[in-house]
Amino acid sequence: MYGLVNQAIQDYLTHQLGAETWTRVRTAAGFHETEFAPLHTYPDALTFQLVGAACQVTGREAGDLVEAVGAYWVEFTAQKGYGSLLDQLGPGFADALAQLDAMHVRIALMMPQLQPPSFRVSERRERGLTLAYTSRRAGLAPLVIGLVKGLGRKFGLEPTVRLTVPRAEGSHTDVFEVSW
Ligand code: HEM
Repeated sequence: MYGLVNQAIQDYLTHQLGAETWTRVRTAAGFHETEFAPLHTYPDALTFQLVGAACQVTGREAGDLVEAVGAYWVEFTAQKGYGSLLDQLGPGFADALAQLDAMHVRIALMMPQLQPPSFRVSERRERGLTLAYTSRRAGLAPLVIGLVKGLGRKFGLEPTVRLTVPRAEGSHTDVFEVSW
């Protein structure tokens, strides 16, 4: 994944726990440099190792931590100069969720090696919808929960996000119910 993702983990943990704890985490994950280059791609395994090490060091559960990083991502990417992409989403929260693939296509213009997720909105209701998330990467459902909550906050909402149909063996799609 692009270094921007690892940077978000670094930033989140540094703000939450301090620089010293972050140093222990990255060392335990086998990363011996002090910074990630945001536009450089790193192995996905490193990102997962950072999460694993952070859980060991803090005693936090991986799902909780990954969800929290997801919720932080919206704020983080805005700080890093990607806010206008998020500002273009809408006008409503449901529209924004339906536009995530188009947004990642625009991101891929800047990050040609991006392996973006795919989202499909169905069953739009007055205050809810069904969201299908497809990725070749496994284990990121908690990230989606945090991201969708973080995006909801941008629209002044506190959405509830429930994983209703986890991916089956051989499938790459998880289904969530989102309501607000
Ligand atoms: C401007 C804001 C955003 C930027 C710059 C951005 C960029 C990225 C980048 C760089 C990755 C790593 C993929 C790779 O390196 O191959 C990624 C992954 C991902 N993004 Fe975005 N993204 C943004 C907003 C969002 C939002 C709002 C959502 C969902 C609500 C989202 C959902 C995801 C998910 C779930 C992944 C994990 C990859 C996977 O599932 O395979 N992103 N994004």
